[in-house]
Amino acid sequence: MDKNAITIALPKGRLLLDCVKILSEVGIKAEEDLSTTRRLLVPSEDGSARFLIVRDKDLPVYVDYGAADMGIVGKDVLMESKKNILEPLDLGFGYCRIVVAQPAVAMGLSNTSGWGHARVATKYPNIAERHFAARGEQIEIIPLYGSIELAPLVGLADRIVDLVSTGETLRQNNLVEVQDVMEVTARLVVNRASMKIKAERLVPLIEALRENLQRW
Ligand code: PRP
Repeated sequence: MDKNAITIALPKGRLLLDCVKILSEVGIKAEEDLSTTRRLLVPSEDGSARFLIVRDKDLPVYVDYGAADMGIVGKDVLMESKKNILEPLDLGFGYCRIVVAQPAVAMGLSNTSGWGHARVATKYPNIAERHFAARGEQIEIIPLYGSIELAPLVGLADRIVDLVSTGETLRQNNLVEVQDVMEVTARLVVNRASMKIKAERLVPLIEALRENLQRW
């Protein structure tokens, strides 16, 4: 391993294949298939980099503490983490949205401006808090880890704040969008100290990724 090797954190899950593709297009290839290996720390073929495979919610922590020099993560996870890390590039892939949704049957019962103390289930408590605070709406957040769409169906919450990609999960659970919260794409993130100390490696790499994006 090159002593100037850079450490790149990538998230397990739906963004991983595009992350591997975009990095290989600028010449950084892992020595084994990152989507199938059980190794969590994998060198690149040429030893100039190594990859950390982490849970997406943990990725900003690795980059913030400098355990990884850079990484790729969804804007949703980045916003939710509140970490003060650099975000030099919007990579454009992994597009989805965060929305407020509620049961279709509740639509006629109240308008969205009258949501006094509605309960809102979400895996994004910080994003949800900020969204409703900006609108001056008093709500109670019910933090959950997944299957968010279930909460209004069983009376745990009145509404949800969650990701929508195809919209299929909302449709199949008879929920409808009532507010847009934010658009989400994959972002390149960089540790602040690494950007200075390893500028010779990182700046050309960021530029190569930026140029390559025009071909996506
Ligand atoms: C995400 C999200 C929605 C679903 C949206 O969940 O929280 O539930 O995908 O996708 P769709 O609009 O294409 O139906 P995920 O698959 O990450 O699982 P989770 O509920 O366990 O978080």
